[in-house]
Formats: sequence, structure tokens, C-alpha cells
Amino acid sequence: MQTIPTIREMQAIVRAAKTSSTTIGLVPTMGALHEGHLSLVRTARAHCSHVIATIFVNPLQFGPNEDLAKYPRTFERDTELLMQEGVDYLFAPSAEEMYPQGAQTLVDVPELGNRLDGASRPGHFRGVATVVSKLLHITQPDLAFFGQKDAAQVAVLRRMVRDLNFPLEMVVCPTVREADGLAMSSRNRYLSNEERVQALALSRTLQTAKTLAQQAAATPATLREAMLHTLTSTDGVRVDYAAVVDPETLLDADDLSRETLLAVAAWVGTTRLIDNLLLPAREVQP
Ligand code: PAJ
Repeated sequence: MQTIPTIREMQAIVRAAKTSSTTIGLVPTMGALHEGHLSLVRTARAHCSHVIATIFVNPLQFGPNEDLAKYPRTFERDTELLMQEGVDYLFAPSAEEMYPQGAQTLVDVPELGNRLDGASRPGHFRGVATVVSKLLHITQPDLAFFGQKDAAQVAVLRRMVRDLNFPLEMVVCPTVREADGLAMSSRNRYLSNEERVQALALSRTLQTAKTLAQQAAATPATLREAMLHTLTSTDGVRVDYAAVVDPETLLDADDLSRETLLAVAAWVGTTRLIDNLLLPAREVQP
């Protein structure tokens, strides 16, 4: 595996690699890698002749009171893991390389970008859309791999890829969980032992709603209510949102006849965690 710190070098490699028989796969990350990230890398490795992983803690997607400074950085271990997974290139630019002085162009998906996490993290998805569009331009992948764990991010990026005609296919991989159901996240390492237990409220909430959704009388409103109830009844958990929405528009679902996204966000102590689950479309009785 080759680690590439500059855009110019990364572009030269891609230019040389691109032929009609190559398939370039991109896995963008902010590092502090866990099995969730590695599942994307493995899927990319299985489908692409060239795999590029990126590690860049993107300052543009962190709010002024968020955890940019303390975001976990484990670069050496990450490099080791990516090497073991057979990644060809690790693009790991500095903040100055990505945003040299004078940079001012932003990519905004204004409606979607202000829903769910975008509502409580103003500017977050503008930062994500901007950095991902830069990474797509720099690496020119045929396939780009993202995790379902960040469902709103997937919706925003799908829209951006369509709106800006990026010539690639987005591949969305399932959420990888710990044995007890907690969705893997780089931020889980902030949790104390007690908070680690409290954090299970998120996956438990989704499972409760999923079971409830099997009842004929269930509606988006009853699911929302049950989700809020489960989340708020756990000590140490402060709810940000409990949503039952269309996975593409992120707008409240009217009914459960189509595929529906159940999504939750909550603070456990000072750590903000998210989780979600896709409910398949309800079978309509003939
Ligand atoms: P990061 O949080 O490092 O996540 C990188 C990728 O890994 C994202 O596509 C995310 O959805 C996926 N991922 C994280 N946890 C996962 C899990 N438990 N199961 C499956 N996939 C998981 O998301 C970002 O970075 C950034 O916003 C980024 C897209 C890199 C732009 O800066």
C-alpha cells in the first residue's frame, strides 16, 4: 500500500491507472477505523481492481462546539489495518492540502442537508458534500462506498451525485454492530463503561419499533411515539431526534407502505450517537 499525501500525486496515479479494464473503488473515512469501515474496504476490494481509502478529519463538517480537536486519531494503526485489507492507496492529505488559503467554493444540498442530523448540526452536510465532491474529483472512482450507519449522509450524497452528474455508482453497505447491538462508531470510544450500557438504548429503540411495525395498526406516528418513549426512559440519554421518514427525502413518512427509515440520534453523556434501521415496504394484502 502506498500512502499519498498530495492531491497532485493522487491525481497522477489515478490518471495512469485508468483504463477501460480498471475499476477504481473509493472508501472515504475520517480514520479511527473499526470493523464498520473495514466492511466497506472489504466490499470495495471484492468489486474493484484498485482500492483507494482516504483518511481526512474534515474540519469543514465539524461545528464550532463539536469534537474536531479531540476526534480520535490512530493513523499508524489505521495504516496497518488498511494494508492488511489489501488497499492499494491511502490518500491522507493535510487540511492545508485540501483547503489552501483562499478556498471558498462549497457544495450545498440545502433541503436534505438541513434534515435529521443537518437540523441539529448546521453546516455539517455542506462540509460533508464539499469534501466528498473534492475526494470524488481527485480520485475519480467508478464505485464509491458508504455505510448505511449514516443514513442522512447517504441521502445527501446520493442527491449530490445525481445533481452534479458524478459518473460513479454509490454502494451502500449495511451497518456493522457490536455483539450486543451497538452500532460501531469511532465516537464509541468516548463512552465510559456506564455510558456504553446506556448507549444500547439507540439500537433497542429501533428493535422495539421494528417489532411494533409488524402490527397491522402501526403507523409512523405510533412508531415515533414508541421510539421517543424507549429513548427517553433510559437514564443518561438525551434525545436529539426519533424519526420515521422516507429514506430518500428524509421527510416524515405518511404511512408504512413504502420502505421507511427509522432513525435516532441521542447524546449519551457528552457523546452524540446515531443509529437507524430500514423497514421494508409493507406487503399490501390483495
Ligand atoms: P466516518 O465516520 O469515518 O465513516 C466513514 C464511512 O464508514 C462512512 O461511509 C460511514 O457511514 C461508514 N461507517 C461508519 N460506521 C459504520 C458501521 N458501523 N457500519 C458500516 N459503515 C460504517 O462518514 C464519514 O466518516 C465522513 O462524513 C466522510 C464521508 C468520510 C466525509 O468526511
